[in-house]
Amino acid sequence: MNIKSVDFVASYPKESACPKDVKPEFAFIGRSNVGKSSLINMLTGRKGMAKVSVTPGKTQLINFFDINHQWHLVDLPGYGYARTSKDKKAAFSKMIRDYLSKRTQLFLAFVLLDSRHELQKIDQQFLEWCGENNVPFALIFTKADKSSKKEVISNVEAIRSELLKTWHELPPHFITSSETKLGREDILQYIKMILTQTDVKEDHI
Ligand code: GTP
Ligand code: MG
Repeated sequence: MNIKSVDFVASYPKESACPKDVKPEFAFIGRSNVGKSSLINMLTGRKGMAKVSVTPGKTQLINFFDINHQWHLVDLPGYGYARTSKDKKAAFSKMIRDYLSKRTQLFLAFVLLDSRHELQKIDQQFLEWCGENNVPFALIFTKADKSSKKEVISNVEAIRSELLKTWHELPPHFITSSETKLGREDILQYIKMILTQTDVKEDHI
């Protein structure tokens, strides 16, 4: 997929405030600081599009971007940031849960995991919640440039084996780096495939 246009739509504090139009949505979600905003900038090819921060917890709203006037890319707040106050943390998780479970135009959530770390409990719990709530998702492993290729592959395999203890099968996964653009084409191709399949389905109805 060629990215021909990227337009920031707006930021919303909760699901019920999100626009009521019918463009397909692809959301990006993960633990704070996992690299969501960097990945979005890398995918869209617009450097300052999503705000990148060294301070975890920067993205605190649901941010909508219009891509090619065809679909919406949604940058969700990070979960599990320990230094936000308890109240705020709970609010984030309700915001995220409401968005993911209620949003009918959500085609897929990309769940980001740091390729350097073992599977964290909060990520496992989040994925389980997605399963229980029928949220369609794919996995993205971030920051692959920070370790050797061998280490990344072995970490990814370890995380997948851990997940396979509770999941019968896992959705596709992508290994990415916002620095080297690794994984960009594959993710855009995957989105395009889902959009195309849906068009085909609708044509047959
Ligand atoms: P919050 O919005 O705070 O939840 O964080 P986020 O998930 O949007 O992470 P963000 O993109 O702001 O990145 C966090 C930090 O990781 C920044 O210092 C980035 O420069 C760095 N980072 C993100 N992706 C990569 C990557 O692929 N490679 C490297 N080397 N650094 C990365
Ligand atoms: Mg962010």
